[in-house]
Amino acid sequence: FKVKKPQNEPILFYEIGSPERTALKGKLKELKEKSIEIPVIIGGEEIYTGNTGECVIPHNKEHKLATYHMAGEEEVQKAIEAAAKAKKEWAEMPWQHRASIFLKAAELLAGPWRATLNAATMLGQSKTVYQAEIDSACELIDFLRFNTYFMTEIYNDQPISTNESWNRLEYRPLEGFVFAVTPFNFTAIGGNLPIAPALMGNTVVWKPSGTAVYSNYFVMKLLKEAGLPDGVINFIPGSGSMIGNEVFKNEDFAGVHFTGSTAVFNTMWKTIGENIDRYKTYPKIVGETGGKDFIFAHKNVKINQLATAMIRGAFEYQGQKCSAASRVYIPKSIWSDLKDKLIQEVATIKMGNAEDFDSFMAAVIDQKAFDRVKGYIEYAKDADDADIIAGGGCDDSVGYFVEPTIILTTNPHFKTIKEEIFGPVLTVYLYDDEDFEEALKICNESTPYGLTGSIFSQDRSVLIKMEKALGQAAGNFYINDKPTGAVVGQQPFGGARASGTNDKAGSKLNLLRWTSPRVIKETF
Ligand code: SER
Repeated sequence: FKVKKPQNEPILFYEIGSPERTALKGKLKELKEKSIEIPVIIGGEEIYTGNTGECVIPHNKEHKLATYHMAGEEEVQKAIEAAAKAKKEWAEMPWQHRASIFLKAAELLAGPWRATLNAATMLGQSKTVYQAEIDSACELIDFLRFNTYFMTEIYNDQPISTNESWNRLEYRPLEGFVFAVTPFNFTAIGGNLPIAPALMGNTVVWKPSGTAVYSNYFVMKLLKEAGLPDGVINFIPGSGSMIGNEVFKNEDFAGVHFTGSTAVFNTMWKTIGENIDRYKTYPKIVGETGGKDFIFAHKNVKINQLATAMIRGAFEYQGQKCSAASRVYIPKSIWSDLKDKLIQEVATIKMGNAEDFDSFMAAVIDQKAFDRVKGYIEYAKDADDADIIAGGGCDDSVGYFVEPTIILTTNPHFKTIKEEIFGPVLTVYLYDDEDFEEALKICNESTPYGLTGSIFSQDRSVLIKMEKALGQAAGNFYINDKPTGAVVGQQPFGGARASGTNDKAGSKLNLLRWTSPRVIKETF
C-alpha cells in the first residue's frame, strides 16, 4: 500500500485584486461585526457553563470578538468520559477512514475554510496576513496531509516473516486518552497537537490557550464539518492548573501533547510522577517548551543576508515564536556595516493593525505579555552595560504595541541575552574576532535551552567548526538563514535540553509517540 508524498501547500500572497484578498477582507469584516459565544464541546455537545472569559483583538483591545465558556471540574470529568466512550469505535475504524476525515479537513481548509481560519487568526492572535497564511492555512494543511502520509508509512512498516511464521505489527492506540495543551502563537500547533494523536486512533481532551480560543474554536468546527465523530476531540478551554490536576489524577490518562512554557511542562512531569501508581500504562510525555534562540555570525558573512535574517527572525509575529531569534553574537569587525544596515531596515518596518495588508508587525498577545516585554526593555534602558540602538517604545493605549527593539550589550550574560522574553526584542553581543571560539562556547552554554539556532559564514571549514561547537544547542539548526519558519515535511520541528522532548512535530517520530504497538507471531 503506497501513498504519494504530499507537496507543501503553496503560500498565497493576497495581491490587490486577487479573489483570496476579497474573500479574506469579507471574512474579517463579518467576524468583527458580530461577537460570538464559544461553548465547551464535549462528545459533540455544546455546553455553556456561564463561567466565561473574553476574546479581544490584541491590536484593538476594546473590540470583543467572543465570550468563551470555561470548563469546570465537572466538564473535565465529562470530557474524559466522552473520550473513553468514543474510543472503541474510533480505534476500530479502519485507519484509511480515519485518514480520509483529516484529508478532507485539509481540502476544506485549502478551499472554503481558508479565509475563515486566517481571519480568525489575524483578529484573535494579531497576526499579519502573511503570518496567518503560513500558520493557519499552509502549516495546518501540511500537518493534516503529511501526518496522514507518515501514518501510512508507519502502518506499512512490518517485521519480516519466515516460512514457518507470519509476524505482524499492529499499531494500537494508547490505552486511555491523550491530553493536548496548546499555545496561542500558532493556530497550526493548536490543531496539530490534538489531531496527531487522534489520527493514530486515540481520543483526546484538548485544552486550548485562553488567548487562542477564538481561532481554535473554528478548527473544531472545521473538523466537525470534515466528519470527525463526536467525542474524538473534546474542546475544554479553562484554567490550566485545574484541568491539569483533574486529568493527571485520572487512571486513564495515557499521554500529554504539550506546547508551552518550560515551567509548566516541568510541573506537569512532577504531577505525572506523583500520580504514576494510578495509571494503567506509562504515559507518553511529549512537549515543546521554551527557547532562547541564537544567531551566531563569523566575520566572513554576507551582511545583507545576516541583517535580513536578524530582522525577520526576531520581529516577525512580534517575536512570539518559540523559534524567534533573540540573541545574536557578532564579531566586532563587521559591526559597523551591520549596524547601519539593521537601523536602516528597522526604520522601514511597518507596525500597525494586523488587518492592514501591508503591516509587517502588529500587537503582542495581551496585557501580560506587553508588561513583561516592556519590563525587559525598561531594564535594558537603565542598565550600564547595555544600550537600546533601535526601537524601545511601548504603547498599550489602543492595542499591545511594542516596537521592534535591538539591545546592544557588552555583557555576554546580560539579562535579556539569557532569559526568554517572547516579544520583539533582540540582544546583540559583540565579540573580539580573535575570541571566536570562546564566544561559541558562551553561546552554547549561556542558556538551558536547545530549540533553534543559526550560524552565518561563507567559509565551509568555519561552518563545520561552528556546527560541532553548537552540537546540542539547537534541535533545528540553520546555516545562513533565520532560525524561524520550519516547514512541515522539510524541517521537522523540535528541540532538546529545556526546550522539550524533541519529538519533531510534523514527522513520523512524533506520530510514533501516539501508538503502543503489538507484535503478533503466528505459526503454521
Ligand atoms: N515551527 C515554528 C517555526 O519554525 C515555531 O513553532 O518558526
